[in-house]
Amino acid sequence: MHYFTFKRGSLYCENSKVESLAKRFGTPLYIYSQRTMYEHFSKLKNAFKEINPLICYSVKASSNLSILKLLVGYGAGLDIVSGGELYRARKVKCPVKKIVYASVGKTDEELRCAINFGILMFNVESISELRKINAVARKLKKKVDVALRFNPDVEPNTHSYITTGKKETKFGMDKETLKNIFFGAGVYSNLNIVGIHIHIGSQLTDSKPFIETLNKVKNLIKDLEQKGVSLEYLNIGGGLGIVYDKERPQTAQEFADKILPSLRSISLKVILEPGRFIVGNAGILVAKVIYIKDTPAKRFIIVDAAMNDLARPALYSAYHKIVSLKEKAASASAFKIAADIVGPVCESGDFLGKNRHLDVGEGDYIAVLGAGAYGFSMSSNYNSRPRAAEILVKNTKAVLIRKRESYSDLVKGEMLLR
Ligand SMILES: Cc1ncc(COP(=O)(O)O)c(C=O)c1O
Repeated sequence: MHYFTFKRGSLYCENSKVESLAKRFGTPLYIYSQRTMYEHFSKLKNAFKEINPLICYSVKASSNLSILKLLVGYGAGLDIVSGGELYRARKVKCPVKKIVYASVGKTDEELRCAINFGILMFNVESISELRKINAVARKLKKKVDVALRFNPDVEPNTHSYITTGKKETKFGMDKETLKNIFFGAGVYSNLNIVGIHIHIGSQLTDSKPFIETLNKVKNLIKDLEQKGVSLEYLNIGGGLGIVYDKERPQTAQEFADKILPSLRSISLKVILEPGRFIVGNAGILVAKVIYIKDTPAKRFIIVDAAMNDLARPALYSAYHKIVSLKEKAASASAFKIAADIVGPVCESGDFLGKNRHLDVGEGDYIAVLGAGAYGFSMSSNYNSRPRAAEILVKNTKAVLIRKRESYSDLVKGEMLLR
């Protein structure tokens, strides 16, 4: 469900015409629909209302301050993975006891900041990290809550780069390691080990891997309880998939219906960490066609957005629907030619879509759909390209939430050798 729809032959975001926004703010341009984000957040909240989980939006999916502020305003907490994301969480005044912090490589400085700030808990990924948090907490004379990230070795059936719960990945710890930590928890005198964290991967379209994981979690908890270990929290991570192409992902309600029986039987305070589900279909990337290039082998539609703006196609061969902002008659001759939609970056991997039938000419605009998650937040300045502007639409109103970068932004912080 999203609010990017064609009305009278033109693409709209809610009640704002996308082409007018592209002309007003320039391209490449990220456009987000506030209503879509609100509805996705609400759907998840309502689906799980019986257990009233803490929903910590995963900042990495789209980390613009205005988006974070909106979600925190809706009652979300934040799932962070770096000192930079902690800084953002502080900027939007996220309640400290709604911040959870994962990542396999938290540095001393990041740990100190987060402990001093008083976040709800760390999701710990290794024994070395556990020792480090304990040592930092001791120095600061604090007692810190942590959950242990469990790697259940479950196949989530998604792209290997976003698979995080298989034993070959760098994330979390196996069952035996976890049990040994819990049984010897006394050695970590500055830690309270209060829960278990899992996050098995992203863009999961059905509930089977979650159920398999929860069954493993249940067994683990049973083993722990038998030895007198009691827990307070179960964090089930994020991972809910969305529609990019022909996927038919579970809805929030279907997901809840499938996993609530397990969660009820575990009866711990539940934390969710959705990212893509909230913002994925709430954002598009709009670009302008610079050239149409025909070669003996292929047609290329060269646009002013590139892999530096949206890395997912280049990085994961991810599919995004791409549309012209004007719905035209399907019989137009240009429409029949399959073209690669590419950017100006000097890499053959720089494409937004391949073999697409798009009826556009030079100077027209296109929109890459489903670009709200891991879109802008993964963007870079590669090829010295200033990063795109971001705007937020609410009904007929659009506000700039990130200025387009300038050339001077590109060299900010660089020194000219004397
Ligand atoms: C620990 C953790 N939680 C939550 C998420 C969010 O995942 P998604 O956007 O698939 O919901 C991620 C994504 O990588 C993650 O690593």
